[in-house]
Amino acid sequence: MRRSVLVAAAILLGATAVVAQQAEIEQSHALMKANGKNLGGVLSPMARGDKPYDQAAINTALTQLDETAKKLPSLYPASVKAVKQTSEYTPSPKIWDDRPGFDAAIAAFSKAVTEAKGKIKDVDSLKATLPTIGKSCSGCHETFRVKNS
Ligand code: HEC
Repeated sequence: MRRSVLVAAAILLGATAVVAQQAEIEQSHALMKANGKNLGGVLSPMARGDKPYDQAAINTALTQLDETAKKLPSLYPASVKAVKQTSEYTPSPKIWDDRPGFDAAIAAFSKAVTEAKGKIKDVDSLKATLPTIGKSCSGCHETFRVKNS
């Protein structure tokens, strides 16, 4: 009886750890998807003139990007390395093998977003600033993101 309780507790603990890692990776997917929405659904269409310029929507998008930049350093702990990925993209092992490189990619993204916050005031400044943000996304993805096959 006592033994089976212990076994059940051990299984539960193991399961809790897996659930926690799964939750971490879900959080990173959710933040990245929000990044994608802000860039592809708000900032880019406004820069192209497909959507009317909307400073409030831009500020909201930049705030979300800024929050993601702040969360990124703790988003991919080594514990998620072994979690099986079912989404389209997955973190590359390079995140843990080249931590300084990953930190530099986060810093570039954070800098691009911080500078954009002070600069974007109209369509022209949006057009001028957006490529820097876009490059900081792809700069990280090129090395630290892999497509699930
Ligand atoms: C410092 C690294 C880094 C930066 C900067 C970064 N990303 Fe990502 N992104 C990743 C990694 C790693 C993944 C794969 C794992 C995941 O989804 O968390 C990813 C995945 C994604 C995905 C796919 C999500 C999924 O669930 O498959 C989208 C969309 C995305 N990023 C958009 C963006 C956009 C847009 C920006 C810039 C505004 C950005 N990312 C900036 C590292 C980064």
